[in-house]
Amino acid sequence: MNEYRGTQQSPEVVSAECRALLAEWSEQLLAASDLSELERIRVAVIGKNGILTQKLKELPNYSPENRREIGAELNATRAFFEKALNGRHLQLESAAFDETMKEEAIDVTLPCRPRMAGKRHLLTQVSDELTSYFCSRGFRVFEGPEVDTEFHCFDGLNMPAHHPARQEQDTLYIKDAPGMLLRVHTSTMQIRALSTCGLPIRGISIGSVFRNDAVDATHTPLFHQIEGVVVEPGITMAHMKYCLLDLLSFLFNTDLCEMAKRGENIPVRFRPSFFPFTEPSVEVDCCCSRGSDGLKLSLDGNWMEILGCGMIHPNVFKNCGVEFFADGTPAQGFAFGVGVERIAMLKYGVTDIRHFYDGDMRWLQHYG
Ligand code: DAH
Repeated sequence: MNEYRGTQQSPEVVSAECRALLAEWSEQLLAASDLSELERIRVAVIGKNGILTQKLKELPNYSPENRREIGAELNATRAFFEKALNGRHLQLESAAFDETMKEEAIDVTLPCRPRMAGKRHLLTQVSDELTSYFCSRGFRVFEGPEVDTEFHCFDGLNMPAHHPARQEQDTLYIKDAPGMLLRVHTSTMQIRALSTCGLPIRGISIGSVFRNDAVDATHTPLFHQIEGVVVEPGITMAHMKYCLLDLLSFLFNTDLCEMAKRGENIPVRFRPSFFPFTEPSVEVDCCCSRGSDGLKLSLDGNWMEILGCGMIHPNVFKNCGVEFFADGTPAQGFAFGVGVERIAMLKYGVTDIRHFYDGDMRWLQHYG
């Protein structure tokens, strides 16, 4: 209940005071330079504990005859203040907007930044070319881990414990995982594919391999290989020769199979070799010469070893548990392994393997 508690000030005094306060507030509003300052003034005047709010709260203390007059005066003061506040608010807001527009102005006459387009790395290009080539000939693509077991890397491939390739100067073993290593070749995928997919099989696998090699123009501790495996009924070395001649024809844009059919001497030779996982084993050399438009196959060049291959050793089939085809005939097929960098170097005339990994932007732009 509002109880009459006696007059404190006459309406004339209140009115004079209100005018004085309004003049003061108007000056403060004008002097305010940003919206937060404006908010501070608003709170001081009409906030919960603001001066004017306080005065309005005291209204019930006045005698009924003064209350009406003083109430009207205070409300008019409040309305006047709010109007001035809103006006200044609009002014400051539009000034702030103008400022932002000025700061964020875009000079449309400036030349645009050059756009750097990324390019595919030469090794990615060659790997993609090889993948699409093999896929078009019915090969499937296998993928597998770079950290693998001694079984997949050596034992399964008929490389017994005393084999020199297993020694630590060639192989990078994983310190805290006995029997685990960084694969030294993608032949691991022969074992994985044969033992998980069974027969028949026709696939490739491309990926990184690791060797504890010193770095020079032809060696890096990481490089890439493509491994191929074909085990189908009736597959012989003749199929292997045709398959690899067709691959080299594709890579060097020369129809070697046609030349061979015509009885011509071809610039490719199959040379007896040794790998523990193939019997017989073969290495393939190409005779290349450097022309004005890159390397080409020709008999008056130099012989260069390009890949290893052979008929899969029966022990490999035994180790993978796939000694026979479904009709009971013994498993027979071939495998091959090629260095991806080697192909890229021959095909695109790259002279130093380190260039692939330098990250030199000019080189990447040129070969990308
Ligand atoms: N794994 C061999 C290496 O890294 C390459 C190789 C040779 C793979 C003969 C094969 C093969 O599949 O039959 O040098």
